[in-house]
Amino acid sequence: MPAYTDLRDGSILVTGGANGIGTAIVRAFHAQDALVYFCDMDAAAGEALAGELGERAVFTRVNLTREAEIVRWVKQVTKTGKPVRALVNNAARDPRMTLESMSVKDWDDLFATNLRAYFLMARETAPHMADGAGAIINLASITFHIAPAEMSAYVATKGGALGFTRSLARELGPRGIRVNTVSPGWIMTERQLKEFVTPAVKRLIRRSQCVPALLRPEDIAEVVLFLASDASRAITGQEILADRGWAHS
Ligand SMILES: NC(=O)c1ccc[n+]([C@@H]2O[C@H](COP(=O)([O-])OP(=O)(O)OC[C@H]3O[C@@H](n4cnc5c(N)ncnc54)[C@H](O)[C@@H]3O)[C@@H](O)[C@H]2O)c1
Repeated sequence: MPAYTDLRDGSILVTGGANGIGTAIVRAFHAQDALVYFCDMDAAAGEALAGELGERAVFTRVNLTREAEIVRWVKQVTKTGKPVRALVNNAARDPRMTLESMSVKDWDDLFATNLRAYFLMARETAPHMADGAGAIINLASITFHIAPAEMSAYVATKGGALGFTRSLARELGPRGIRVNTVSPGWIMTERQLKEFVTPAVKRLIRRSQCVPALLRPEDIAEVVLFLASDASRAITGQEILADRGWAHS
């Protein structure tokens, strides 16, 4: 993994860090000697990860669908006055729901997690970023481009994340704060492997990607590191597709 020395000792906030890609992101920033604050609803997994990494990885249980919990968490992690170097909006859910089966509550709950929390985290965190030294990275998905059936709500939240990124980059740009989206391809997280990735799916992935090797959470974490670092200072308002060249159809 490359060393981004500008991230050393920086305060980093990561949502949904207890599992999957979020865990890889927490580990990646921790390996850069950053100070990583991460939240999740899965307290058992979050505490286990924090326990393993030690004092530079601080876990808090937060339900991101609750505005008050987000406000409280950001207040708590910024109380020392140390600026926030980067925010990674990662937590999201990806349920399969047909149009007929989807209730207003299903729709609203998904938007609350996958999109409203991105906005709330950005609103609470941006004031604590120093001018010229802040980055927001929003996780979207290749699914927005592939647009499979029975994922209309999820795809809509990810399209929302792309739009949110583009306008916020314009708004925060004058302060030198950059905002970008990372859209992962199909990533071999524990949950994906357990729930969806059959041998047939692996064959489909290998056929669809330009480079057939399956993607791991660490591959996405390294893109996130780059976008948090000054190494990507020329890049804002962009969507980076980290999908090994999936042929979109
Ligand atoms: N895994 C993939 O193949 C893939 C592909 C494209 C995009 N993504 C995106 O990457 C991001 C991470 O996905 P993942 O596969 O690692 O997911 P995951 O389900 O493995 O982990 C998501 C984490 O978010 C947490 N979370 C969910 N709702 C929450 C809430 N309301 N409050 C607090 N925490 C909550 C979960 O507890 C979990 O720990 C998401 O934005 C997802 O849409 C994933």
